Amino acid sequence: MIDPFGRSISYLRVSVTDRCDLRCVYCMAEDMTFLPKADLLSLEELDRLCGVFIGLGVRKIRLTGGEPLVRRDVMALFRNLGARLGSGLDELTVTTNGTQLGRYAEDLRAAGVRRINVSLDTLDAAKFAAATRWGKIDKTLDGIFAAKAAGLAIKINAVALKGFNEDEFDSMVAWCGEHGFDLCLIETMPLGEIDGDRTDQYLPLSRVRERLSRTWTLTDTDYATGGPARYVRVEETGQRIGFITPLTHNFCESCNRVRLTCTGTLYMCLGQEDAADLRAPLRRPGATDEDVAEAVRAAIARKPKGHDFVIDRRGAAPALSRHMSVTGG
Ligand code: 5AD
Ligand code: SF4
Repeated sequence: MIDPFGRSISYLRVSVTDRCDLRCVYCMAEDMTFLPKADLLSLEELDRLCGVFIGLGVRKIRLTGGEPLVRRDVMALFRNLGARLGSGLDELTVTTNGTQLGRYAEDLRAAGVRRINVSLDTLDAAKFAAATRWGKIDKTLDGIFAAKAAGLAIKINAVALKGFNEDEFDSMVAWCGEHGFDLCLIETMPLGEIDGDRTDQYLPLSRVRERLSRTWTLTDTDYATGGPARYVRVEETGQRIGFITPLTHNFCESCNRVRLTCTGTLYMCLGQEDAADLRAPLRRPGATDEDVAEAVRAAIARKPKGHDFVIDRRGAAPALSRHMSVTGG
């Protein structure tokens, strides 16, 4: 699949649920209204849709959420998708908050998952509880170490938040180095109504990098995962740090991905409203996979050039009304 700007679309991210067992302050409001269960695609429907995308050239699938591992029976979807590895699909991954990894790490590995992203913004138990509104850091840490023990490669995703974790990145780099994890730092994006003002949270990564380079030798690399992160190598630890800077640096030229929600809505860009409904074509009586593929092709033909996030209007409404938990990070 080639979009109107010549980008080849080979990566599908699937949000399997908008629910989560945490309520990170930059991600969700405390009293979120979640989708009624009846609106969700079944796991079989999600698997079928993924099959259509693979038929169209998707090589990598990431399951995300919300928190993907809180969806009932989600391992069945991992197993079905894992069975497609080697026949069209090259990689199956997951982005998780880690709370369920103690239970599922071995199963993920058995399903064919080799790398996972775990969201962890701080190593401090009290701060973790505050950032997630009620999370217990030990559950996430235990999950991370269960994943490591199961042989999964781990990347830690941390959202950089002004005055919250900005003094912690040195210790996070050291901790990741000690355990063999990569680290990816992310600027907050204006997605969805939350309870505070995002202008107060926004921390430019240029400042973080400058501060890190006082302690660590950071070497630019051309390592690329096909994603928006720019990577440096930390010479002292041998691990990588990725920087995702949607606000200060535009990475849209090389975008290779689209995002499917748990209701079958396809977002062609994380930072735009335009979307295509795939649930109707999927559920149309007698619809073949080719009919569904036609709906996907029509959507890809509308993929926009890029997002237009800005975060300079204090108190302004979010750029997009939907939350990150709808489309996945
Ligand atoms: N801006 C940036 N990152 C976000 N995440 C959730 N909401 C936001 C936001 N508004 C992150 C999570 C997780 C990933 C899926 O997206 O922390 O690491
Ligand atoms: Fe849940 Fe992830 Fe959102 Fe935190 S950032 S509330 S863990 S979906």
